[in-house]
Amino acid sequence: MMMSSDRKPALEPTILSIFGITGDLARRYLLPALYNLVKNDMLHEQTEIIGITRGDMKLDELLSRVELCVSEAGNICDPVVIKKLKAMLSLRQMDVTKPIEYDQLLIDLNKIEDNHGVHMNRLYYLSIPPNVAQPIITFLGEHGLNASCPHGAANTRLLVEKPFGYDITSAKELIEATSKHFGEEQIFRIDHYLAKETVQNILAFRFNNPIFEPLWDKDHIDYIEVLANEKINIEGRVNFYEQTGALRDLIQSHLLQILALITMEQPKELKSDEIHNDKQAVMSQLMAVPANKITENTVRGQYEGYKKEVSNEDSSNDTFAAVRVFIDSERWKGVPMIVKTGKALTERLSEVNVVFKPTDENPHHNILTFRIQPNEGIELSLRVKKPGYDDEVQPVEMDFEYGDAFKKDYTPTAYERVLVDAVRGDHTLFATAGEVLESWRVVQPILHEWSKNANDLIIYKQGTSGPDVSSLYPAK
Ligand code: BG6
Repeated sequence: MMMSSDRKPALEPTILSIFGITGDLARRYLLPALYNLVKNDMLHEQTEIIGITRGDMKLDELLSRVELCVSEAGNICDPVVIKKLKAMLSLRQMDVTKPIEYDQLLIDLNKIEDNHGVHMNRLYYLSIPPNVAQPIITFLGEHGLNASCPHGAANTRLLVEKPFGYDITSAKELIEATSKHFGEEQIFRIDHYLAKETVQNILAFRFNNPIFEPLWDKDHIDYIEVLANEKINIEGRVNFYEQTGALRDLIQSHLLQILALITMEQPKELKSDEIHNDKQAVMSQLMAVPANKITENTVRGQYEGYKKEVSNEDSSNDTFAAVRVFIDSERWKGVPMIVKTGKALTERLSEVNVVFKPTDENPHHNILTFRIQPNEGIELSLRVKKPGYDDEVQPVEMDFEYGDAFKKDYTPTAYERVLVDAVRGDHTLFATAGEVLESWRVVQPILHEWSKNANDLIIYKQGTSGPDVSSLYPAK
């Protein structure tokens, strides 16, 4: 599927240096996104991609390990695209712990620019854990790689993958260490859920359809649910997951961001700064669950077989987490907000359900659903009269599916969007330092209580809906 040229953002010549090119994220998302961007002619023809790796892996070997052409029929890559991608992509062997290697990197980036004969933006993509990312950021800064090109005419940007820290203390440290060398306008903190189409549509939908805004409050909404159910398990990411868990992995980042989009006030304009101001404002009103209320406001679980998989019989890590939070504002007072995620569940399903209040006369809930994946779309559940002679009423769904409504339009994957936005310097779909700290503030007391003992950890069977979370929802 090609994107029509009139809708393409014009991207500038860029050198994209990727730290962590052999990692899981590059394999699953980043390299397939680059393949699609090349295929759709999205990148400037003067683009260089440098994959940084400690070993001396060859490009063909790297590409053969990657799920590169997942969007192609039969997963078969288009040889023309592969040729173009290979012409842009090179691997660089580098020991990122050695300061001197950064001096050489700078010399080589300048050479690349000289060879192209144009000013080139520089992007450093850190697809690595935060404890590894922090020293690299410092080295980049100390060795002058945070500056513009030698002629001062291009932008230098830093793209950082989540998790942004492991807890509030390390997140603060990472943010402070980064801000010593990079201005906030240079930093792009990736939360790829923000770049998913339906998530982007939350604000567009809320603020372009005025019928919903008067209903968007505690008087009309019973509760809001943001869920991300995954069918996959941890897929061999043992070290990463043992240090992370479901609460940190998805709730601290993706799901609290989505909740903020659903509950924030209307920005003056739908522009990056305004959106971030209002998003952070509502995140600062999210109430951290007090220590003595954590058991009644959270549910955590671990799938059967996890301990064996990670070779740690004592692991109490959560592969399932659900949290009920409230927002301290006039608009949302007393409305439960439930965020929930788990691995090894029945099916892959991420969605937001805004559940409207029934009335005394009419006990049914209308539900507005933003379906993030699969089958992206927006759905409103209604009750209508059944055809025929009786007055029987039955529930139906008013459904808008991207697949039907935008058949001819190419939908970029979240990582394609992330890369394009970082190359063109648009911060809208990235997390700010303030937002990251607000969500750690909410999650931290839960992590703290959970670390004391694991008495409430529920072991659930793989391929099921996970632990019972009904206690978090309003009584029916
Ligand atoms: C990542 C998490 O951020 O999101 C993974 O680290 C998770 O554990 C992934 O599987 C889910 O993303 P998606 O786009 O496949 O829903």
